[in-house]
Amino acid sequence: MKTYIIGNWKMNFSTGESSLYLHKLLNKVPSYRDIEVVVAPSTLSLQSLSLQTERRKIKLAAQNAYAADYGAFTGETAMASLRGIVNYCLVGHSERRHIFGESDKDVRAKVAAALRFGITPILCVGETEIERDMKETASVIKDQLLGGLSDVSKEDLDKVIIAYEPVWAISGHGKATIAKPSDVDEVVKLIRETLAATYSKKIAENIPVLYGGSVKTTNAAAYLSVPGVNGLLIGGASLIASEFLGIIDIAKRTIVE
Ligand code: 13P
Repeated sequence: MKTYIIGNWKMNFSTGESSLYLHKLLNKVPSYRDIEVVVAPSTLSLQSLSLQTERRKIKLAAQNAYAADYGAFTGETAMASLRGIVNYCLVGHSERRHIFGESDKDVRAKVAAALRFGITPILCVGETEIERDMKETASVIKDQLLGGLSDVSKEDLDKVIIAYEPVWAISGHGKATIAKPSDVDEVVKLIRETLAATYSKKIAENIPVLYGGSVKTTNAAAYLSVPGVNGLLIGGASLIASEFLGIIDIAKRTIVE
């Protein structure tokens, strides 16, 4: 399975800055066979960056899109209109769930819409600090996972990526606790066990599961070494070229070792 290194730029960089930054990355990132490098810029930048990028080196993801194909949905961008522009779309990122009130029902519709247009959904799941303290992690993860996938046919399950992002470990919301590799291990196991029990062992083994939350060059190797982690979803550190490129380098070395 490939290792995914995905930079979520969140609401940072103007279109000009995005283009300059992508240019810088393209100059430094070789074309890897076993590492899929992806960046998720703002929706506004996607069209121009799709013309600029060399997809064998860096592919694009949308950070969000709407499930309906067209219609009276002021301010939204249809998954349909991203076809041909992006290969991936983040769905149900915790900032979408908790700041913008996205429900499991919204998330499910977006996962299905992405698949309808040949876009790989990256379904994000993760518990909040309060849920963790209340020992609700397992039930929250199961609900978000199965809720998000419940409209996906068995044949399409190999076109989905899962990202575990504990909300309490995401930087940019004030204090963030760094998740221990053992915390990640526990939830990644739970995700695969849930997929195996609901679908099949084969499906559970074949779905890539990523980790995200305060990933940096200093901890990337430890997270990539957790069994069953197939890549990283990086926020803050992906905005700094030396950090993002450093993490790609670490991924390369971790795979070889
Ligand atoms: P940070 O790496 O800034 O903690 O963000 C993680 C994230 O939300 C990626 O989607």
